[in-house]
Amino acid sequence: MTITEALIAEHIVLIRVFNQIECALPSWTTLAGVRALAEMLEGLLRGHEDAEVEFAYRPLDHALAEDGRLERFYHDHRDLDAKLRGIRNAKTGVEARLMLMGAMAGAREHFQREEREVFPLLERRFRAEQLLELGQAWRCRYALPQPITTPSVRPAIGSVLAQPALE
Ligand SMILES: [Fe+2]
Ligand SMILES: [Fe+2]
Repeated sequence: MTITEALIAEHIVLIRVFNQIECALPSWTTLAGVRALAEMLEGLLRGHEDAEVEFAYRPLDHALAEDGRLERFYHDHRDLDAKLRGIRNAKTGVEARLMLMGAMAGAREHFQREEREVFPLLERRFRAEQLLELGQAWRCRYALPQPITTPSVRPAIGSVLAQPALE
């Protein structure tokens, strides 16, 4: 699995979670219940963002020599995190539900922009075998049952990025 296939698969799973939450949300009437849902989503999205920064944004930073093209996407992550954290300050269940719906809508748009702009850029900048190596490193880091800081993964990423990028 390439890194872009892995990250798109994460988008698909997250969107399915959003769909489930949107269906269930009308029956979650208590403020505490909606906050608990928001905290769960915050954890899921943070895990995705961490993986994406490590295995897609940073490799592109390297390839693009910090030309700032990714700043919009880093900003989206910060904005989404802030929206979800803000739900902790909601005063009513209705307010919290609206804030959660807004955060999920923002995440859906962000995913679409990444799939339109960031992932194709990644696929143009790196060779097929490099994309597979990044996917394998992502799998070792996030999808296999082992400690979250796996020393062997770092050299793998380093060796991929040490190879010349395309273009
Ligand atoms: Fe993202
Ligand atoms: Fe993403």
